[in-house]
Amino acid sequence: MAKVIVCKQADVQLGTMKAFAIENGLELVIANIENKFYAMNATCNHAQGPLAEGTLEGSIITCPWHGAKWDITKGSLVEFALDLDLEQTYETAVENGNVVVEV
Ligand code: FES
Repeated sequence: MAKVIVCKQADVQLGTMKAFAIENGLELVIANIENKFYAMNATCNHAQGPLAEGTLEGSIITCPWHGAKWDITKGSLVEFALDLDLEQTYETAVENGNVVVEV
């Protein structure tokens, strides 16, 4: 496990999410939910849809391609016609104004 700075705290406003590419080709979606930051793999496990281009309601991201609903706090699938594997989530922390993720 290594700590990686993903973005500045101010880059992801309250109630929003954004995708960030980090080392090793990983792309993460970072969501700011009640000023706590959550990190999850940014591509949908169904057909690789770009989750950060979907919508965020509470902790639920709806994939823009076929509507799968994911809970970013757990990586779990909340609603979809098919069973899908969990999305990978990552521990996050705020350090010196940066959002840091354990990868
Ligand atoms: S790619 Fe996300 S629901 Fe199909």
